Amino acid sequence: MRRRIMIWMGSAALFALVAGVAAITLFPGSNATPSRVIAKSPIAKCMNLGNALEAPSEGEWGYRIRTQDMIRLRDAGFDTVRVPVKWSAHAESTAPYTVDPAIFQRVDQVATDALAAGLNVIVNVHHYEALMSDPETHELRLEAIWAQLSAHYADWPQGLMFEFINEPNGDMTTARVDALNARLLAEVRRDNPARWVIVGGAGWGNLEPLLASDPPRDPRVITTFHHYGPFEFTHQGATWTAQDYPTGVGFGTPEELSDIREIMRQAARFRYDTGLPVFLGEFGAIHNADLDDRAAWTRAMREAAEAESIGWCYWDFATSFKAYSPEEEAWIDPILDALIPRES
Ligand code: BGC
Repeated sequence: MRRRIMIWMGSAALFALVAGVAAITLFPGSNATPSRVIAKSPIAKCMNLGNALEAPSEGEWGYRIRTQDMIRLRDAGFDTVRVPVKWSAHAESTAPYTVDPAIFQRVDQVATDALAAGLNVIVNVHHYEALMSDPETHELRLEAIWAQLSAHYADWPQGLMFEFINEPNGDMTTARVDALNARLLAEVRRDNPARWVIVGGAGWGNLEPLLASDPPRDPRVITTFHHYGPFEFTHQGATWTAQDYPTGVGFGTPEELSDIREIMRQAARFRYDTGLPVFLGEFGAIHNADLDDRAAWTRAMREAAEAESIGWCYWDFATSFKAYSPEEEAWIDPILDALIPRES
């Protein structure tokens, strides 16, 4: 095994071994010889703590992250939390684009709580809308923001992971995203040679643009995609979508179920082709949908991802797609059970 890893990935794989990264071997077909050894992502079951630190002020969108939520998530069987942060709203608009120490303080507290509970924590750059409409100006600013994040978290445990850009869209084309990911990785690797870094493609983080992308090959890079299909089911009654999707839409035809399995097969094929782990960074169904249908969709997504050994992250913990009700201080049992079935 050791020899094969070294042949395929050379010194990069040696680095992964030294770092204690377990590896999985993928068999593309029943008789095929294993030809890829791919680092095993540390993320299996993850929850998005969404709509907290990307809101204008935390709590304004209905949720404020709490220490006890980390314990609750760990006890329920999750291993990772993804923390969306709108860093662009907390950095100067002119060079050197200094990030406000107050947001660092808050994210540090959340990350400390997560790590103390034994969870991995993904820190991302969320909702950087100006980047999507004016990349010429804002790519530089994002690079400066990541340089500051990289320096700030350099000495933190490896359970803290970086994710460069949430759902690039608009003028952030595949070519631009690929080039920017490469530059950002070079920047963060200076201070964080071994940290896990998550990169995606263009087109709102959907799988198809990821398949067309060329992510940086690095033993500690994970690629990511989001999946909310069928969108008219998962986003029924949503108030923030470009078009309105009426409520009352169900889920569960054989075709819908097989589309989900096909998405995960394609993602697994991309992992095989690139040699990089792949991560379903967001999926979820809005609370306006029928609860049984939400649970059926969530279970189908989670099972299809796990069938292909793809780590996943449910969107979201406690707001519009909630798995947990902060009003009742209780899990929404059918959603939790769809994510992490209770032992019978
Ligand atoms: C956005 C959220 C939204 C979710 C589902 C996320 O990427 O940040 O605001 O609720 O997708 O649409």
